[in-house]
Amino acid sequence: MDLLVVGSGLFGLTIAERCAAELGLRVTVLERRSHIGGNAYSEADPETGIEVHRYGSHLFHTSNDRVWTYVNRFTEFSDYQHRVYTVHGGKIYSMPINLGTICSFFGRVLAPDEARALIREQAAETADPHTLEGKAVSMIGRPLYEAFIRHYTAKQWQTDPRDLPAEIIGRLPVRYTFDGRYFSDTYEGLPKDGYGAWLRNMADHPNIEVRLDTDFFEHRKEVPPGVPIVYTGPLDRYFDYAEGELGWRTLDFQTEVRATGDFQGTSVVNYADPDVPFTRIHEFRHLHPERDHYPADKTVIMREFSRFAERSDEPYYPINSRNDRKILSRYRELARSEPDVFFGGRLGTYKYLDMHMAIGSALSLFDNHLLPRFATRLRS
Ligand code: FDA
Repeated sequence: MDLLVVGSGLFGLTIAERCAAELGLRVTVLERRSHIGGNAYSEADPETGIEVHRYGSHLFHTSNDRVWTYVNRFTEFSDYQHRVYTVHGGKIYSMPINLGTICSFFGRVLAPDEARALIREQAAETADPHTLEGKAVSMIGRPLYEAFIRHYTAKQWQTDPRDLPAEIIGRLPVRYTFDGRYFSDTYEGLPKDGYGAWLRNMADHPNIEVRLDTDFFEHRKEVPPGVPIVYTGPLDRYFDYAEGELGWRTLDFQTEVRATGDFQGTSVVNYADPDVPFTRIHEFRHLHPERDHYPADKTVIMREFSRFAERSDEPYYPINSRNDRKILSRYRELARSEPDVFFGGRLGTYKYLDMHMAIGSALSLFDNHLLPRFATRLRS
């Protein structure tokens, strides 16, 4: 073994693939789950054959040419374009907020400039800039905030947005056109043969050995001395929580086969109101309208619930509170004292990363650290 990779998510697989294919290294990948691919993993539902994204819908999109060229080596992509709708007050609206959402919500036909003027006027309300609520109101005005952001955010965080810090939300995009596309990246699509096939293709190299159901911490002592490690598990776990626990939100999923060919007419519907306990419903068949083998009388839906993670839960989204950032800086300091361990991916860096970002950051780690390190060793 020349390199050990902990975690077979897109970060770990990109590192393993590059090191095996470019440098001829023998790479062992340890994965504590019983499948590869981390949270991007998908598989066919046994009853319907519909591809189900086990950890919530994963939509691939990027404006990074290098990442797009790289991923196309392992899979072809469909031309799927993501659109999201949200239910509020018994009506359904297009998300993110666009001219269509604004016209429907206010029940008026508004030209783009009229809509802009209306939102500007509503956003002029004086609000506390330190809270999530204040920041959101100053960006989109109170009526849209109350309808689409307030309760949805409260469900995501189990906290009233008046008690959440402003930095949790970056921007709230408002489009003054009828463009209802969720992403505006140059490239967007879904792997034609599914995520499972894409991820397996990345690992399909004679120099890569993937060991599933294998937790690094149970086998740590077996790692031969001098073998560098790329670690993509939780950063605090690596140091045995010596500096405290980093906060995460987790998700609970309820999956159900329904006796209808179409449950909601689209792949993702958000539920913005407080009387509905879940945040969204995914209906996976709509991610692949091109597939004609899906049954006409059955569909798979998945309800998503959000809450704070306990240590035994899957960590999904970093909370990133002020205290988390303090703890993180102490772990970063500890990480610097481990020259043979490279921390990467969303868990290893405590950062939310989209798939293209995880791949892009793995390619940078390969270029900037692994390539120079192993190139010297291979030359000598
Ligand atoms: P990832 O979490 O995928 O992989 C880490 C792996 O390490 C896991 O398989 C884990 O089991 C393993 N591991 C941890 N500790 C270990 C140990 N001790 N020993 C062995 N193995 C260990 N992105 C996007 O572009 N579009 C989208 O639509 C979405 N949607 C989305 C929905 C939800 C609900 C989430 C949580 C995330 C997304 N993402 C996304 C983000 C996407 O999932 C993310 O970019 C990738 O998972 C990042 O890959 P990583 O390899 O960094 O982590």
